Amino acid sequence: MRIGILGAGQLGRMLALAGLPLDTSFSFYDTSGSPTAGIGEIIVDPSSSHEKLNEFLAKIDIATYEFENIPLGLTQEVEKYKPLHPSSKSIRICQNRVEEKKLFAQLGIPTASYKVATSAEELKQAATELGCPVVAKSATDGYDGKGQAVLKSPEDASAAWQSIGHSTLVVESFVEFDREVSMIAVRSRDGDVAFYPMAENVHKDGILRYSIAPAPELNNDVKAVAESYIRDLLNELGHVGVLTLELFVTPRGLLANEMAPRVHNSGHWSMNGAKCSQFENHIRAIAGLPLGDTSAISPTCMINLIGTAGSKEDTLKLPYVHLHMYGKEERAGRKIGHINIVADTYKELIWRVESTIERVPSCPAFECSLTRTVKVQENNGATDS
Ligand SMILES: Nc1ncnc2c1ncn2[C@@H]1O[C@H](COP(=O)(O)OP(=O)(O)O)[C@@H](O)[C@H]1O
Ligand SMILES: [Mg+2]
Repeated sequence: MRIGILGAGQLGRMLALAGLPLDTSFSFYDTSGSPTAGIGEIIVDPSSSHEKLNEFLAKIDIATYEFENIPLGLTQEVEKYKPLHPSSKSIRICQNRVEEKKLFAQLGIPTASYKVATSAEELKQAATELGCPVVAKSATDGYDGKGQAVLKSPEDASAAWQSIGHSTLVVESFVEFDREVSMIAVRSRDGDVAFYPMAENVHKDGILRYSIAPAPELNNDVKAVAESYIRDLLNELGHVGVLTLELFVTPRGLLANEMAPRVHNSGHWSMNGAKCSQFENHIRAIAGLPLGDTSAISPTCMINLIGTAGSKEDTLKLPYVHLHMYGKEERAGRKIGHINIVADTYKELIWRVESTIERVPSCPAFECSLTRTVKVQENNGATDS
């Protein structure tokens, strides 16, 4: 089967790497002008011409996308000629925070309180009514914390409006979460659904730095609730492929943050830590193949390489390091690769992660629920976990 991917970044690259052994081939359609997938056939079309799109469509049997911030008109055009999984409906909702929040509300999935603002005055009013701090986010085109500002006071509205520079914002109450988690699920063309173990996600300045899966000490009720939320979303969207739901764990229960109609950075751990990775399962789902086993092999941590990777030779001296580079040039703030670490126990996992990041200067201190628990145990004189 010939699969076409809209977008040609690292997610597309990892989809192709997972799909090739299943006897699928890949073509990419890139409108950014700077594709990095480095695999398969890449059709570069910065001016979005009909001719190039037709050339792409002629090469494929089915299409998918690796990023939701692409024009809806493009996915609708593709859909006229080839099956597109997930469909334009998933992209229409997931690329717009206002639509996403409406769907969460319709399905009874709780979120932070929020308001929509279309001017600096409305932003100020929203901040006043919700009570600061609030997080203002552009309704469209945001990722990795881009297009966002935290307002400590309604007086910050004018500067925040200017810095975000979008015509519609979603303004949310700032959530004092215990931790952030994500639920990744995959739905087949026949409607079968499989859930990955949830990941605990550590962000810094809006960018994911670490994911630990299965999320340690997550109680079964929380998992069941998250599964019911994502199942409802998958079914309502008629989604085929991987869907990701980001959530805040709070003392009052789970709050949905946002979702993505695709494989997700917080699922990269599954390349080495799960029986079948999110990438392979996305390909299986869209190609009409049976879904693979989503269960975890062992505790795993994904470390994002942002800006610089350090010495790969040095890192690879550690026998437990799985290195995944994206073929991208080093640049401040850019995701250029990730490392997966698998261990037999969470204690060993912490030790291995800390030894690894000593060799990668760009990684922040490893702080998550696991390291907090170990510190408490050490202070209480406990010996093991
Ligand atoms: N309402 C909020 N309260 C507290 N932190 C938030 C809130 N919204 C976002 N964040 C923080 O910013 C990160 C990025 O925001 P998110 O909405 O997920 O946008 P992006 O599309 O950039 O991932 C989140 O993972 C979280 O750490
Ligand atoms: Mg996010």
